[in-house]
Amino acid sequence: MERLTDLQSMGRAFARYILDIRQGWAAASPEVRAKLVRDRMEDLFRETPATDPWIQRLLTERPAHLELYRDPEAGFVQMAHYHSPMHASPPHDHGEHWVVYGVYSGDIEICTYRWLPDVKALRTLDRHHLTSGQARIYAAGDIHATRQCAAQGSVVLRFLSTDLKRVPRSHYRWEDVTEEVES
Ligand SMILES: [Fe+2]
Repeated sequence: MERLTDLQSMGRAFARYILDIRQGWAAASPEVRAKLVRDRMEDLFRETPATDPWIQRLLTERPAHLELYRDPEAGFVQMAHYHSPMHASPPHDHGEHWVVYGVYSGDIEICTYRWLPDVKALRTLDRHHLTSGQARIYAAGDIHATRQCAAQGSVVLRFLSTDLKRVPRSHYRWEDVTEEVES
């Protein structure tokens, strides 16, 4: 219940978002959980006025990383980020765990890749722009990278299905990427 108090201080829409996810979490498969988070995150963006405290903080203080919520039972973590105009995060995966990226305001490009062990390079599979109000799932093992596109920067949410600190992951360099897009 102490978490509920914390949540309510975040604004009504954010509290509802977390409680809905908590409610759906136990009974669902990883795929269903990911879809629930994506759909509810898009609802959250629609329902959150820019005056809500967590958005206010992101827009005024512009933190690179801000943990909004960590669930003590399910273990998921809701991160928020202000991506400044030059921000880019090189290719990486989240190990065996899925992630949902969403944009409250702005525009980021997310590319996905396939690792080609024979030539030790990443082939670009997909380029996708996430713009204001949109959220998208990246599955377990998906190699992805983000680049900031909006001139004014972006407010980005990252829902981690587990705390990544203890998860074995792969990280790559931009130089590993080939520009070919698979059809
Ligand atoms: Fe990521």
